[in-house]
Amino acid sequence: MKETVLKRFGEVFGDTDGVKVFFAPGRVNLIGEHTDYNGGHVFPCALTIGTYAAARVREDDKLRFYSMNFDHLGVIESDIRDLKPQKEAGWTNYPKGVMWAFGERGFQIPAGMDILLNGNIPNGSGLSSSASVEVVTGAILREFFGFEVSNQDLALIGQYSENNFNGVNCGIMDQFAIAMGKKDHAIFLDTADLSYTYAPVKLQGAKIVIACSNKKRGLGDSKYNERRSECETALAELQKEVDIRSLGELTEEQFEEHKSAIRDITRVKRAKHAVYENQRTLQAVAALEENNIELFGQLMNASHVSLRDDYEVTGAELDTLVEEAWKVEGVIGSRMTGAGFGGCTVSIVRDEAIDQFIEKVGKAYKSRIGYAADFYVVEVGDGPSVL
Ligand code: GLA
Repeated sequence: MKETVLKRFGEVFGDTDGVKVFFAPGRVNLIGEHTDYNGGHVFPCALTIGTYAAARVREDDKLRFYSMNFDHLGVIESDIRDLKPQKEAGWTNYPKGVMWAFGERGFQIPAGMDILLNGNIPNGSGLSSSASVEVVTGAILREFFGFEVSNQDLALIGQYSENNFNGVNCGIMDQFAIAMGKKDHAIFLDTADLSYTYAPVKLQGAKIVIACSNKKRGLGDSKYNERRSECETALAELQKEVDIRSLGELTEEQFEEHKSAIRDITRVKRAKHAVYENQRTLQAVAALEENNIELFGQLMNASHVSLRDDYEVTGAELDTLVEEAWKVEGVIGSRMTGAGFGGCTVSIVRDEAIDQFIEKVGKAYKSRIGYAADFYVVEVGDGPSVL
């Protein structure tokens, strides 16, 4: 891949003088969904697929961007002294947002750049291609300008840019999973204080399989923000009775005791998901540590049911993929992953059942939904690097 991006860089920008090549992964969340903005726990891992970038510093203030995933858009230009989100700037709003966010932190970028990207995360799959672009941009700026920022800072700067430059109110999970990724490990992160540990992903004769629904995201972002505010309102109602800072501080029992403080049935369901999903995540990590992969799978299944019935972020496409997966022998667990409303599912499937899984689920999906899903057997990889 390094050669591919270097060659294309030369074709697009004339030569490869002063160019360095970078990589940042995509991510998949194993369990702990819609908990990261509720002060709960998440358990994602970085993947070996991600975003490759070739970059160099210019002598003027110009920014020139090119993505091999959007060849038809050609070179998109901008200026380092004039960083603002623009609709027509398309995907370049992500790297521009990160450059802006560095400036907000007091790291002034002294010159323009030429940046070419090539991602092998399937388009629109919900495996966090945008967070991957943010983290790779941070890694580029750190390398060329010597900014003293840790990988965790890259995650926070990425999230800050997404929230404040690109207007998506996401939590910290995606950028953190990508910036802090570790080969063959998942990250057990407490989003209340950003404390974390790495847990080995030992699947004993099984693999992580991602099924991409290929459903267009549509209203995804506005529904995401709506779920966030439903949880915030439910928290404010609970705070009249209990002294908590987030839904993640409640056990199931405490929630049941105080849930009548929430004055709306829909908000009760949303908060219930946030509380129970957080507890499920704690149990799932303990199960994995004890090599109880079956229990881990059951908790993944319960997570999906809760996201379907209480949080209501699944839809026919994700439900079909998961419910068909549950029918296949050798599937240890299966659930939607990421924001929902499209995107993909994550399943843990025994090695000998993978072919059958892809065939059966793929067939059922096509006949029910009308178009095909894509399947990827993935590996857990490291965070960002200079290649
Ligand atoms: C998206 C957001 C994350 C997280 C998930 C749901 O991926 O970017 O911060 O909230 O949805 O768990």
